[in-house]
Amino acid sequence: MNIRTLDDLLAEEVTGRRVLVRADLNVPLDKQTGQITDDGRIRAVLPTLGALVQAGAKVVVCSHLGRPKGSPDPAFSLRPVAGRLGELLGAPVHFAEDTVGDSARSTVAGLADGQVALLENLRFNPGETSKDEAQRGAFADQLAALADAYVDDAFGAVHRRHASVYDVPARLPHVAGRLVLREVEVLGTLTGEPDRPYVVVLGGSKVSDKLAVIEALLPKVDRLLVGGGMCFTFLKAQGHEVGSSLLEEEMVETCRSLLERAGGKIMLPVDVVAADAFAPDAPHDTVRADGIPSKRVGLDIGPETVAGFAAALRGARTIFWNGPMGVFEMAAFAHGTRGVAEAIANADAFTVVGGGDSAAAVRALGLDEQAFSHISTGGGASLEYLEGKTLPGIAALEN
Ligand code: 3PG
Ligand code: MG
Repeated sequence: MNIRTLDDLLAEEVTGRRVLVRADLNVPLDKQTGQITDDGRIRAVLPTLGALVQAGAKVVVCSHLGRPKGSPDPAFSLRPVAGRLGELLGAPVHFAEDTVGDSARSTVAGLADGQVALLENLRFNPGETSKDEAQRGAFADQLAALADAYVDDAFGAVHRRHASVYDVPARLPHVAGRLVLREVEVLGTLTGEPDRPYVVVLGGSKVSDKLAVIEALLPKVDRLLVGGGMCFTFLKAQGHEVGSSLLEEEMVETCRSLLERAGGKIMLPVDVVAADAFAPDAPHDTVRADGIPSKRVGLDIGPETVAGFAAALRGARTIFWNGPMGVFEMAAFAHGTRGVAEAIANADAFTVVGGGDSAAAVRALGLDEQAFSHISTGGGASLEYLEGKTLPGIAALEN
């Protein structure tokens, strides 16, 4: 891989230069209070920002948050993130009310050496996500005009062909930040020659989202453990009743063929926690995976499954985990995710947690982040990396 790095940029003089850092500060917000519920992605970009501040650069940070529809929407403002970022950096972060307009230009112009500004949500501008090259390019021109150099540290967004990820690096001297480098290094280990046994744990709600990664991983892994909402489509493919559990009817045939081709590598739950309803206080029991009552909904894997998965993980030398095992946001259905996460943390292996919900689960359940070798900040991005896809944000840095 032929990518210039932050260290290369720092080796040149950056004092007083405006450096645009694309970060992924797409953090979860509490719907009621608007408070940040998990600041993991903000903390993950601190090494890069800290190094630039130290070197006396004028640091201009940009990010998306959520999926606003190309125009300003207060529910998706990055303002709360500017506050939290300032606390973590130990210095105020100047917040621009727009992304490339008057506020952005004057905020950047007002930065002293070593100061940090955060621009408003990139996706308030239709050009950011546009499929039209010219529209994206015009927005990229405006962004690039705010800076003298570009650092990509938004690993969670490198799979998006968006202006700030793909088109800006074509317009400015560009390097990979510390987070992007670390992520690529770790995931590269998994696609290369990982130590064996190599065990992958997949969960989350939809098989359709994971199909490509399952196809890509099956020949490489020794074991593939499947839990979460997606396990019910596999159970159905084995001919079992799944009640009113999550089911992707149109994927049943695909799951059947995967099970056939997997030659025993895929491990499915043998018991599940089935509830009367999708609710935190719903009455529930552990039932056999081949005997889910027709009116009940499976919301977690059962204790026997956790024990079986833990046994498979105990002997592993390399582990990748993506997707919760159940509805961990509800305490009654968090045991499966907790049990599997603890088994991964305790394994004598190189352990990688893949982004999004699983990373949030580690922190929400109060597990020790240090017990894992790496917690990725990218959900979709890490899966696409493992699928072997070309990631637009990485490709743009290579040019
Ligand atoms: C994520 O949370 O998956 C990343 O921030 C990318 O966001 P997106 O899926 O809305 O592009
Ligand atoms: Mg996503």
